Amino acid sequence: MSISGALPKESIVAVIGAGAMGSGIAQVAAQAGHPVQLFDTRFGAADEACRTLSATFDALAAKGKISADTARSASRRIAAVNVLADCVSARLVIEAIVEDLEAKRALLRELEVIVTPETILASNTSSLSITALAAGLQHPQRVVGMHFFNPAPVLPLVEVVSGLATDRAVAEIIYASAASWGKLPVHASSTPGFIVNRCARPFYGEALRLLSERAADPATLDAVMREAGGFRMGPFELMDLIGLDVNFAVTRSVWDAYFHDPRYTPSVLQQELVAAGFLGRKTGRGFFSYGASAAKPEPSTQPPQRRPTAICVCGGLGPAAALADRLAASGVAVERAPMHNAFPDGAIAIEGGWLALTDGRAATSRGVAIGEPTIVLFDLALDYATCTRVAVARADTCSDRTWNAAVGALQAAGIAVSALDDVAGLAVMRTVVMLANEAADAVTQGIATAHDVDLAMQKGVNYPVGPLAWADRIGAARVREVLVNLAAHYGEDRYRISPLLARRCAAAQALAD
Ligand code: NAI
Repeated sequence: MSISGALPKESIVAVIGAGAMGSGIAQVAAQAGHPVQLFDTRFGAADEACRTLSATFDALAAKGKISADTARSASRRIAAVNVLADCVSARLVIEAIVEDLEAKRALLRELEVIVTPETILASNTSSLSITALAAGLQHPQRVVGMHFFNPAPVLPLVEVVSGLATDRAVAEIIYASAASWGKLPVHASSTPGFIVNRCARPFYGEALRLLSERAADPATLDAVMREAGGFRMGPFELMDLIGLDVNFAVTRSVWDAYFHDPRYTPSVLQQELVAAGFLGRKTGRGFFSYGASAAKPEPSTQPPQRRPTAICVCGGLGPAAALADRLAASGVAVERAPMHNAFPDGAIAIEGGWLALTDGRAATSRGVAIGEPTIVLFDLALDYATCTRVAVARADTCSDRTWNAAVGALQAAGIAVSALDDVAGLAVMRTVVMLANEAADAVTQGIATAHDVDLAMQKGVNYPVGPLAWADRIGAARVREVLVNLAAHYGEDRYRISPLLARRCAAAQALAD
């Protein structure tokens, strides 16, 4: 490659495929100052997209997001072309055609004889191997993934994906160009799902498992993930938005690509919904019903209980330390006592029983194992000082007195309580440790750096904290403990701990000793 850094603004960017993604990418490139050519095999599609983009620029100007001048010049910079051969002068071609390996390979072969050998060929594929796309081309080193997220003009993340043959200089030019277009690029190597589509699998996978174990209904699980986990959307409403068919297909493709690793096993429950045609918002029914007459699903919330007069916090509560302060501020008398032998990680003694943070065991089995059967477990929260809801589960052996007091204490602190069935690891804890585990595996396998994985999950799917940073907040030892307990509970390889997390845990322990 004769240039380094971002492509100069005068370089022509050709976008092939004028659908949702192609149009969005054309908008981004034109707003950044590049002349843009738009091509689509569907008659009239590129012209139509240009007209729509022109209206989009006018609307942005009317809202004051861009100046009228910028709108006019961006609009003028985009032109529809009628034949692929018109892209001869393009310096960068970004394909955003149908997600089909053979169609994309045929397009790249055709492009190779049109454009100069210097031209970069980028693919917006979200699931196909960049290595496979480039194979057999004359210059496979100039093929690179440039994976935008939908809607491309809004979401900042761009995964710059290198296949086995991709020249590092090519990836760097795309990285620098994406950054100069106002995007947040991250480097990734070409592996199934790249960073985001792979590392996000547990967000859906654990939710689907919880639902199939009948831990709670979708509205309740969504509310817990939003209000305690700090996620912008719950997994079920998000799957309904994405489309259950699309979400199921992505899970399936990652599962297939990893030779049926149980980490990614698709859900039979989701498969049934897809088979029924209940695909989410687009069909009016998925996990929820849509349409004018559909009632907004409400999470199930425990009825009010009396606040306990006194509780005793034994030991530190680790990541839940702020909960004790919040309880104290709510007027409940909070005593402090040293750690109790049965709860080395801390717990709250309450009305003849215990309230403790989940450690990945079900409440009943944990209570029996430690000889404290009157036990209620609460779920992880992103921030116990501000969360508005938390999930709890009671052991089958727990007394009503302890249960009511535990619910009452949390309510006194202004926290709505959602009772889950006695499932291992509850909802937020189980999801977050599995997200961190997946992220750690992606780092272990050299798919991306820890920094880029965390950034990608925050900017690509709006997670409130990167999964690895979140694991650090929880503490490596506790994350490990939850995974070990989940693995023992289910007896499945799905919950095996990533070597990187195991290493972080060992290092943290060595420092503490
Ligand atoms: P789309 O179906 O809206 O648009 C695809 C366009 O490509 C259509 O207008 C079609 O006529 C055109 N096309 C098909 N074959 C062509 C060919 N050989 N030459 C020129 N044009 C051709 O699809 P969408 O959603 O825009 O996706 C495009 C690509 O972007 C796919 O690879 C997809 O996996 C990827 N992607 C999609 C995201 C999404 O949320 N929709 C997110 C990120 C990536």
